[in-house]
Amino acid sequence: MIRKYRIGTPFETEAVVLSIKEETGEIPYLDRNETTGMLVCPLKKEDIVYGLGQNIRGINKRGFVYESNCSDDPLHTEGKRSLYGAHNFFVVDSDEKFGVFLDYPGKAVFDIGFTKTDLLTISTEDENYDLYLIDGASVTQIVKQFRELIGRSYVAPMWAFGYGQSRWSYNDEKEVREVVENFRNNKIGLDAVYLDIDYMERYKDFTVNRETFPDLAGLAKELKEKGVRLVPIIDAGVKIEEGYDVYEEGVAKDYFCKDEDGNNFTVGVWPGKVYLPDFLNKEAREWFGEKYSFLLEQGIEGFWNDMNEPALFYSEKNLDHVFARLDELRKKNLDIHSYFEMMDLVKGISNNEEDYRSFYHNVNGKKIRHDKIHNLYGYNMTRAAGEAFERLMPDKRILMFSRSSYIGMHRYSGIWTGDNQSWWSHLLLNLKMLPSLNMCGFLFIGADIGGFGDNTSQDLLLRWLSLGVFTPLMRNHSALGTRRQEPYCFDDTDAFRRLIGIRYALLPYIYSEYMKAVLRNEMMFLPLAFVYTEDKRVKEIEDQLLVGDSIMIAPVYTQNATGRYVYLPEEMKLIRMHSAGEWEEEILPAGDHYISVELDEIVFFIRKGKLLPLAKEADCVDHMESQLTYLDFADKKAEYELYRDDGFSKDYDKETNWQKIVVEK
Ligand code: GLC
Repeated sequence: MIRKYRIGTPFETEAVVLSIKEETGEIPYLDRNETTGMLVCPLKKEDIVYGLGQNIRGINKRGFVYESNCSDDPLHTEGKRSLYGAHNFFVVDSDEKFGVFLDYPGKAVFDIGFTKTDLLTISTEDENYDLYLIDGASVTQIVKQFRELIGRSYVAPMWAFGYGQSRWSYNDEKEVREVVENFRNNKIGLDAVYLDIDYMERYKDFTVNRETFPDLAGLAKELKEKGVRLVPIIDAGVKIEEGYDVYEEGVAKDYFCKDEDGNNFTVGVWPGKVYLPDFLNKEAREWFGEKYSFLLEQGIEGFWNDMNEPALFYSEKNLDHVFARLDELRKKNLDIHSYFEMMDLVKGISNNEEDYRSFYHNVNGKKIRHDKIHNLYGYNMTRAAGEAFERLMPDKRILMFSRSSYIGMHRYSGIWTGDNQSWWSHLLLNLKMLPSLNMCGFLFIGADIGGFGDNTSQDLLLRWLSLGVFTPLMRNHSALGTRRQEPYCFDDTDAFRRLIGIRYALLPYIYSEYMKAVLRNEMMFLPLAFVYTEDKRVKEIEDQLLVGDSIMIAPVYTQNATGRYVYLPEEMKLIRMHSAGEWEEEILPAGDHYISVELDEIVFFIRKGKLLPLAKEADCVDHMESQLTYLDFADKKAEYELYRDDGFSKDYDKETNWQKIVVEK
């Protein structure tokens, strides 16, 4: 059951699609403290709290404090409280289970047994929000109701499930061609090459640098013939430059965010000074969305939206103030106070809280200060694109994923988890975030495989790919200046070929399970505790996941480890895949096992009575054959519901997309 409570006069976020009658009585499960405005819920010792989507730390969120405050912060270390998204949904797994969705677009703080170990508190900047309380017999039932409440998740085209190669610094079309050739020559699967800001003319949205990419349309066509799509990045800020059409139109139509005095608000990002499109303004959204047609018309079929928290390197106003103070400080003998003042001043230039409080949106003629709706900015940038694709190409799926997000955006796009690092701990973080994201409606998801910042190593990348073969978005991306991490840059190209080949073999399964999760409001990545509800042991397992209905995964995430301990909640069949067409099988009893895993193989476990389809290896999705084989763990019988469609159109609900597979022994 879903109950809704309205506190104050909330901003209409459009996160929710069902209309739920407001209740007036007492809010169940949570007490509202009249003095502080805080929502409070006691926690029993054994209670577990799941959810909060994109965030740091574990699957069980208990023991730390988290903020919903979309942040551009590339150091996802344990002490951080927020990442790029704001996903205010969690479930308390207690004697009575309930879910809470706080539909509030400003900064919210979730203290989950951090300040007081037996208390969960929620604080908001002001008391204007809708609160949804959902109860059900199991966590999965609660999640399902929540997902119905927020509407069907975005569906990516099938080619976007193939392997994607990205790097910040593919500087010209020659380099892009070389990447593709290296993949094809080494017989490593590839479906997409991502274009980072380097393709633009001086980092201006909806422009192409004609010197380095003289014929983008030609390049897109040529590569598509090889089964490879180009996926360009779009940033939130629009460069201030006379003669640049997007800038001039935006100014003329008054579509940019304003400062207190009504002037366009100036901030700095990649191109230098930019204005921020007012994505909260419906007309501005329509206008910006139409701009994507510039690239769609050149044969582009996918995009990634970036810097949309929005990331602010600086604001013009604050920078003046900082420079003035630095001038004063340079005359001083910098001591303990002035030295740290100087350091803090410089560090505080980017993504400054004060800056977020000093610009405004025009929402249906009403002036709204940015911090009040901060968490909706990236959502509405991506919605601008999603709504435009619906208008411009109603029958075709366009790949779209965003860095910043709020619940509601999941209907328009997927997300990638931003600027992680080439650290083993971030491989584990990637794994732990997957179920929480699914709970909040984000299904087309993936991390920068190999790590974005810092230098990756061959073993880290191989281990990361061993998780990445299961995530809908499987993209290797790295930052400018870091070690190159295309698979052919390492000693053991063969190992990369095998692992990526296995992705293509698993693709019918990954796609089926993804589509089931979309169409049935279910999760594709589940903590073991969501399914094996009677098994007390699994409550603490955070490094193994169920992927869809048939399999469990237990990736290796430790440097130099040649295997790991795995707990099997029931008898399962281990599959050791050496390549797309070669594997070993072994039935293992329930309990603890040490499982060896070489760097060049993928190990997973089939649940009893289940099976999964396997395709033949292909160099890209377009070249995949439709014939399948099946891997099963049938005692007597194993069953599977296979979902298949053309991968492009939007006819998801057709009966004929479903096929029942039964294996009997
Ligand atoms: C941001 C993005 C990253 C991209 C870079 C340059 O840091 O998160 O993926 O490579 O900007 O555009």
